[in-house]
Amino acid sequence: MTLSLACLSAEAQRPPAFQPNYDEAQVPAYTLPDPLVLADGRPVKTARAWRTKRRTEILELFQTHVYGRNPVRTPKPSFEVTSTDRLALGGKATRKEVSVFLTGRKDGTKMDLLIYLPNDVKKPVPAFLGLNFYGNHTIHSDPGITLSPQWMRDSAELGVVNNRATEAARGKRASRWQVETILARGYALATIYYGDLEPDSAEGWKQGVRAALSPDGAKTEFAPDDWGAIGVWAWGLSRALDYLEQDREIDGKRVAVMGHSRLGKTSLWAGAQDERFAMVISNDSGCGGAALSRRQFGETVERINNSFPHWFCGNFKKYNRNEAALPVDQHQLIALMAPRPVYVASAEEDRWADPRGEFLATKHAEPVYRLFRKGGLGVAEMPPVNQPVGDTIGYHIRTGAHDVTAYDWEQYLNFADRHLGK
Ligand code: GCU
Repeated sequence: MTLSLACLSAEAQRPPAFQPNYDEAQVPAYTLPDPLVLADGRPVKTARAWRTKRRTEILELFQTHVYGRNPVRTPKPSFEVTSTDRLALGGKATRKEVSVFLTGRKDGTKMDLLIYLPNDVKKPVPAFLGLNFYGNHTIHSDPGITLSPQWMRDSAELGVVNNRATEAARGKRASRWQVETILARGYALATIYYGDLEPDSAEGWKQGVRAALSPDGAKTEFAPDDWGAIGVWAWGLSRALDYLEQDREIDGKRVAVMGHSRLGKTSLWAGAQDERFAMVISNDSGCGGAALSRRQFGETVERINNSFPHWFCGNFKKYNRNEAALPVDQHQLIALMAPRPVYVASAEEDRWADPRGEFLATKHAEPVYRLFRKGGLGVAEMPPVNQPVGDTIGYHIRTGAHDVTAYDWEQYLNFADRHLGK
């Protein structure tokens, strides 16, 4: 009797399943924090005041309340080029693989960087850098890519069995990378499996950089503003840039950081913190990425914190069902890229990521770009599907689902041609 009562009440207490809002009319009224007003209320009127005062404030707020802070000091990585093939992809490309030793020591945590460079073009070349979801060997069917030995989520479709990649996994995500097109346009492509940095699960930190870099090597508790997994992945992108900067065939001053979905949240956070990234691209990054949190459209702060407690910092949980209290919103993350070119892409069917919220975040970042006399989106309203807009802030919403497609890459390449030059 007592038992069944207990069961009943547990049932009654279970929160109702999350129902995302997809109705514009149900989006609550909200006021966004102003990117151009200092914490003490003074207005920011010059690019200099933005750079020296407001940018620092906003970055701090994101560190404290959203993504957490990197350790104050992290080791300098060391590098080893483990393979070079100058006749890859039928002679069109040079393929390099580089071990990046993240603690600086060869026996410590490392990540494996895969790089394709176009042959027969003047070096150094500009590059795209991005993390991948299922191992470097999934971005192209090239048999010369080393199969990732890391843990990954089982997937029959992606050729992962017993948490290990099999030969069948090669090229399974090639459609998301468009390697040949990127090379033909004169760019290099560099990528890393995000699991090299930290496995994507609540306990993943124990096997990743957060444990490796904690002072005692076995930290069990995090401060509410310590970095989360997104912070670690973003930090890894900066360490990859450390390598790219010293590779003579790549122009380290023309590296665009790009990412999809959770890795789009990551590319934005990497670009916000590390101004060496010359251009930043967010593909369908959604909640905690390019989408405004206050709209609560599709995925919400509470939902993302419940499903992925390890992505953001502890403090972010305070804003579950409490978005209005957030001292920042995601338009300010976009603004942190200023005056560098930033591109945000949405997909029509990807309502979970709130395409309109992604557009509005770019729109509300415009005043900061104006301080630098940089053109923003050039439109007042969200553009129709498949009609890219924008000058220094680029945006498109394409037809189709949550994914990275050839269409997306074509826009990124056009945008890069305009801003990174040839
Ligand atoms: C989930 C998650 C999103 C994330 C996406 C992805 O859908 O809710 O926030 O962007 O996974 O990374 O694929």
